[in-house]
Amino acid sequence: MTKTFGAALVGCGSISGVHLKSFAGLELAELKVVVDTDEELAKRTAQQYGCDYLTDYRQLFHREDVQVVHLCTPHHLHAPLAVELLAAGKHVLTEKPMAQNKQAAASLLQAAAQNPNVQLGVIFQNRYNPASQRIKQFLDSGELGKLICMKGLVTWYRNENYYITPWKGKWETEGGGVLINQSIHTLDLLQWFGGEIASIKGSISNDSLEGVIEVEDTAHALIQFKSGVRAIFYATNAYLQNSPVEVELVFEQGTLYMRGDYLYLRKGDQETMLCEPRVNDLGEKSYWGVSHAVQIRDFYEHLAAGKPFWIDAREGVKALTMVLDIYESSRAQKAVPFLV
Ligand SMILES: NC(=O)c1ccc[n+]([C@@H]2O[C@H](COP(=O)([O-])OP(=O)(O)OC[C@H]3O[C@@H](n4cnc5c(N)ncnc54)[C@H](O)[C@@H]3O)[C@@H](O)[C@H]2O)c1
Repeated sequence: MTKTFGAALVGCGSISGVHLKSFAGLELAELKVVVDTDEELAKRTAQQYGCDYLTDYRQLFHREDVQVVHLCTPHHLHAPLAVELLAAGKHVLTEKPMAQNKQAAASLLQAAAQNPNVQLGVIFQNRYNPASQRIKQFLDSGELGKLICMKGLVTWYRNENYYITPWKGKWETEGGGVLINQSIHTLDLLQWFGGEIASIKGSISNDSLEGVIEVEDTAHALIQFKSGVRAIFYATNAYLQNSPVEVELVFEQGTLYMRGDYLYLRKGDQETMLCEPRVNDLGEKSYWGVSHAVQIRDFYEHLAAGKPFWIDAREGVKALTMVLDIYESSRAQKAVPFLV
C-alpha cells in the first residue's frame, strides 16, 4: 500500500535516529531519502533505514516522491533550509530552535505565511509528555484555582567533549548555549502553561567552560506574565549530572510538581503521584523527554487531515524569543518587554 507522505530527513547526526526510528510505527509516512553533507554518514544511515541518500538538500526540491522534510541540522541552517524547502512546496518539520536569531526567525515566519499550501512544524516534544498534558488540563479546567507562580530548573552536564562538534558552543552557528539548545524546552513549557508574557529579566554566564565555548553554560531569568503570574528559571550545563528537569506550578488550591516524567500534586501535607514515565522505545535519553514519536505522528495526522499544525512558526518563535530576550536583557542589565 502506498503511504500518504514520502519523507526526507536532512542531518544524520545525534538526534536523527529518533526521527528515523519513528517511521516504523507510522502508517501515514514512508522514509524515502536521508541527506547529509558527510557522504559516508548519509550512506551508512541510508543502508540502516533502507532508503536513498543525498549530500545536497537542494536535490530534494525536485523529488516528487518527497512531500515532507525533517530538519535535524545545526541551528543556523534551520531557517534558511526551511525557507527554501517551503518555497519548493515541501512541508517541513524542523528540530528546535526554529532559528538562531531574530532575523532568521523573521524570515521563517514570513516564508511560512507566504506558503499556506505547505506546513511548518517545530519540534517541542515535551509538550506531548503525559505530565505536561496533565498540567495543561489542570490549567484549562481551573480546578486548582488561579495559577500564582512557576519555576523551571534544568541542571545538566555538557563538558568539552560535547563541544568538539564544530557548530556547537558558537554564537554564529549554535546561536547560544544552554538556553537555545538544552533548556529551550523548559522555557517553552513555562510560556505554554503561563500564557502571554509581559517582560523578561535575565542573565547569562560561562561558569565552567571559559576558553572552550563562546556561549553561556548557565542562565537565570525572571519571567513576568501579563496575568500577574511570575516564573523563575534557572538552567546550567555545569552540573556533573543530567538531572530530571523540574517544573513547579503553585496554584491557589495546590501545587503541581513535575520532575522529569513524574507529576505530583501537593495539597497541604498530602502528595499524590499523577503521572509516571511513558515507556521509551526510541532510544531517547530520558532527560530529553520521550515524546518525539508522538509529535511526529501528530504532525502527519494534521497534514493528512489538512488541519493547521498547532506548533507552527508562530508558536515555535515564542520560546526562541524568550531565549533571545534573556541574552538581550543580560547585555542591557534590565528587563526587556516581550514582543512576538
Ligand atoms: N528535541 C530534542 O530534544 C533534541 C535533542 C538533541 C538535538 N536536537 C536538535 O537536533 C538538531 C541536530 O542536533 P544534533 O545533536 O543531532 O547535531 P549533530 O551535529 O550530531 O548532527 C547534525 C548533522 O547535520 C549535518 N549537516 C550539517 N550541515 C548540513 C547540510 N548543509 N546539509 C545536510 N546535512 C548537514 C552534519 O554533518 C551532522 O551529521 C539541533 O537543532 C539540536 O538542537 C533536539
